Amino acid sequence: MLWTVLLALLVLLVLQTQLCVCLRELRSGGSGSPSYLSSSSSSSSSSSSSNATQQRLPGAIIIGVRKGGTRALLEMLNLHPDVEVAKAEVHFFNVEEHYRRGLAWYRAQMPFTLPGQVTVEKTPGYFAAPQVPARVWDMNPAVRLLLIVRDPAERLVSDYTQVLHNRLTRHKPYQPLEELLLHKGHIDPGYKALQRSLYHQHLARWLEVFPREQIHVVDGDALIRDPFPELRKAERFLDLPPRISPNNFYYNTTKGFYCLMSAGHDKCLDESKGRPHAPLSAEAFRELCRYFREPNKLFFEMVGRSFSWC
Ligand code: A3P
Repeated sequence: MLWTVLLALLVLLVLQTQLCVCLRELRSGGSGSPSYLSSSSSSSSSSSSSNATQQRLPGAIIIGVRKGGTRALLEMLNLHPDVEVAKAEVHFFNVEEHYRRGLAWYRAQMPFTLPGQVTVEKTPGYFAAPQVPARVWDMNPAVRLLLIVRDPAERLVSDYTQVLHNRLTRHKPYQPLEELLLHKGHIDPGYKALQRSLYHQHLARWLEVFPREQIHVVDGDALIRDPFPELRKAERFLDLPPRISPNNFYYNTTKGFYCLMSAGHDKCLDESKGRPHAPLSAEAFRELCRYFREPNKLFFEMVGRSFSWC
């Protein structure tokens, strides 16, 4: 009789321990993953084993800004062993044809990851597209968002330079920047590349959907000057253990930019990143800086910090 009671107590003890372990796993999202890797972003029908590599929806997205240094940030985050990135821009939330294909299609564009690893994709076109914030929220309201910004006047010139380069390669006609930017000596507010630099307008739409803490702002100019401190902040934001070190970066004098170093291999970004900018007169550039003064102030208030832009 005594033995039966003892045995029953032992069984109860074991069951209670098991229950505690299960509850702890559930609370932490399983396998010690950061909390934003919610079930909706980490589930997949393609495998039944919880330790298998799978394609998972992104836990973090670099949403912009175009020409802000989005490729550099993505490649640098990829130095972290717990981060896997989608190599190509996916344009899922901003291109209707892609969005209609559904989340299964989106997931199929992602790299294979282990549980606990964070999938990151970057599509700079998301930032300025009005329909995107609500769609991203619908996918995963806990997703972490990274926004890399750069002096809006420099960004505009970089944006124009990219378009110019594409037109030249396709032997298409082009207009000089000053012609597009100025109308009767004044800044033309209708110029698309100018509108993309009005960060406060686009961010306001994201903040209607996401809390401020869920959007981490990366200083793109600081990332150019010295990438490591910006990467350390990004690791912290993503709740990742610090694994990226200053040794992962070296300044390449030929390129004029920092390049990446990992496991004895070095890698610089391709020649489309960091190319010489199209010419713009000092007077027009000054006018541009004047134009952005107020919008920049509004953006600084929104993000709660300021940048030393022109
Ligand atoms: P420029 O080509 O105007 O210099 P994106 O990847 O979003 O298109 O941004 C491109 C910008 O990334 C480049 O703009 C460049 O200044 C910036 N950048 C930041 N870090 C870089 C790096 N380590 N190597 C090359 N470009 C870098």
